Amino acid sequence: MHWLFIGSAALSLFLPSSALFHGTVDHGHWNELRGLTHNTTYNPSEAKKSSPPLIIDTFQKPTHNDLGFWHGSGENLSVQHGPGFIRLFPTDPDQNFHTQFDSNTCYSLLPWYNEYLHVIFEGTDQFSVSFNQHNDECNPKRRPFPGVADSVQADRYVVHPAAEPYGEGDEWDDDYDDDDWDDDDDDMNANTWKKKHKHRKSKGGRHKHPKGHTALPNGRRELYIPLSHFDIDFNRVVSVSFHGFYTKESITLHHIEVVPDIPMPSRENGHYRLPSKLPSGRLVLRCSRPNSFAFGIDDGQPQFSQRVMRILDEEDVRVTFFVVGAGLRDQSSNFTEFYEEMLKKGHQVALHSNTHPKMESLTTIREIDDEIIQAAHVFKRQLNIESSYFRPPFGTVAARLRQELARHIPNPYIVNWSVDVEDWLWANTSTPEKQLEAFYRDVNRGGNLAVMHYLNPTTIGYLPEFIRHIKNAGYRIMRIDQCLEDVFAPPL
Ligand SMILES: *[C@@H]1O[C@H](CO)[C@@H](O)[C@H](O)[C@H]1NC(C)=O
Ligand SMILES: *[C@@H]1O[C@H](CO)[C@@H](O)[C@H](O)[C@H]1NC(C)=O
Ligand SMILES: *[C@@H]1O[C@H](CO)[C@@H](O)[C@H](O)[C@H]1NC(C)=O
Ligand SMILES: *[C@@H]1O[C@H](CO)[C@@H](O)[C@H](O)[C@H]1NC(C)=O
Ligand SMILES: *[C@@H]1O[C@H](CO)[C@@H](O)[C@H](O)[C@H]1NC(C)=O
Ligand SMILES: [Zn+2]
Repeated sequence: MHWLFIGSAALSLFLPSSALFHGTVDHGHWNELRGLTHNTTYNPSEAKKSSPPLIIDTFQKPTHNDLGFWHGSGENLSVQHGPGFIRLFPTDPDQNFHTQFDSNTCYSLLPWYNEYLHVIFEGTDQFSVSFNQHNDECNPKRRPFPGVADSVQADRYVVHPAAEPYGEGDEWDDDYDDDDWDDDDDDMNANTWKKKHKHRKSKGGRHKHPKGHTALPNGRRELYIPLSHFDIDFNRVVSVSFHGFYTKESITLHHIEVVPDIPMPSRENGHYRLPSKLPSGRLVLRCSRPNSFAFGIDDGQPQFSQRVMRILDEEDVRVTFFVVGAGLRDQSSNFTEFYEEMLKKGHQVALHSNTHPKMESLTTIREIDDEIIQAAHVFKRQLNIESSYFRPPFGTVAARLRQELARHIPNPYIVNWSVDVEDWLWANTSTPEKQLEAFYRDVNRGGNLAVMHYLNPTTIGYLPEFIRHIKNAGYRIMRIDQCLEDVFAPPL
């Protein structure tokens, strides 16, 4: 192997943005390949079935994909990178690997909308695959960046090969000589890839495979996901990402592309059939109502609750509280009385799980369901309310949580944020004023849906300043359901 590096990349996606999505090579607009421009309205008849695959990433280079744009990991995901693969060593569902379509601008995948994401990998399939959408302005300096994403559960889409083995002891990577993987080999495409692939197979005189489906080397598997299973605006795509790991097993990615066809069902592929799309709760990071701003206030300390109430009364603003079920159950907390009073005052009270785990890391669907059902239960029993608003603990959300929310809650809103006061980072340090700086920064960048907690007196001390800043900037402060123009929200 001629180069190898084990990285614990300091890149942290979704945190400070400027350094994150690198894109140094301008290859122009790849959409021109299909004679369409970014603003073209999608017309299904223009998506030609016979079109060549769009090769996204074959991992030839450590920092760039085959389109010439950035790929890399976030949240300290350790990776091992060699020619033709990247191996991810996840320890947390927030860790991620992204491969980008352009350099921080909106990329239109509409011409490929009827096609399939095809991934060849080894190792675990316990993760989510997401398409990430840009913000409204296609501007990485604005908040949020990236914008919303939609995610599917990888294991549902894996092609399961027949039990019978394809060959023996043929370690794929050992077969390569380095010349095949020259770093400057720019003309890799699916055809050359398939040719090499077939060539090796026939050289070994191995198993024959039905037309239209080439066998993969030992240990490799593949998955196909219709792009239409991702509910995003394909006019403004930023990247494909792998995240939401609910295992600590590694995954090795070999090949990512968009292809016009999926394999025909056969004995070799276990009579492959695409799964149907599962409903996925909608994710929101911004208020949609013009000139609106909302505070989503999460976990609090009971001893600070009366102080928060006084501030909101004095400022005459309504907010949304995301409340953990276990806190309501704890009789010593006084939270049931407090949130009953907040409901009477017109605030929104919404779900924030039962015990506040990183829900995507839970191994079984049953554990995820329990967190949702128990939380809804205690809301009903102790506050006599139902809520279709859910904020994931730690903002950790991928396909399984979104699917389970959609199964248990009609039309759920999954609420992340575009303004982070970073109280989790600064509240308890010698520089608590960084919370104000973080708030002003995100608001200046167009964020309008905030996350904060009332766990620390410094954060609560800044709350009146946050509110006045927003009022002075001309926004109207309201509950999250109101700022999202939910028809079931109370009138303003
Ligand atoms: C593309 O569409 C956006 C939003 O729909 C619009 O603001 C922009 O002017 C359009 N650009 C071109 C070149 O038509
Ligand atoms: C990543 O690791 C570095 C060094 O170990 C640490 O300082 C940093 O806080 C970590 N970042 C995240 C997002 O975990
Ligand atoms: C409990 O909360 C209610 C409602 O906010 C408040 O009136 C009451 O004073 C609180 N009691 C204690 C002991 O904090
Ligand atoms: C939600 O917010 C958290 C915290 O910023 C972030 O880690 C996560 O990626 C966000 N999820 C989405 C889908 O935007
Ligand atoms: C805040 O810092 C103090 C000491 O400076 C520590 O005792 C306390 O546990 C910290 N609280 C949190 C929530 O981190
Ligand atoms: Zn929380």
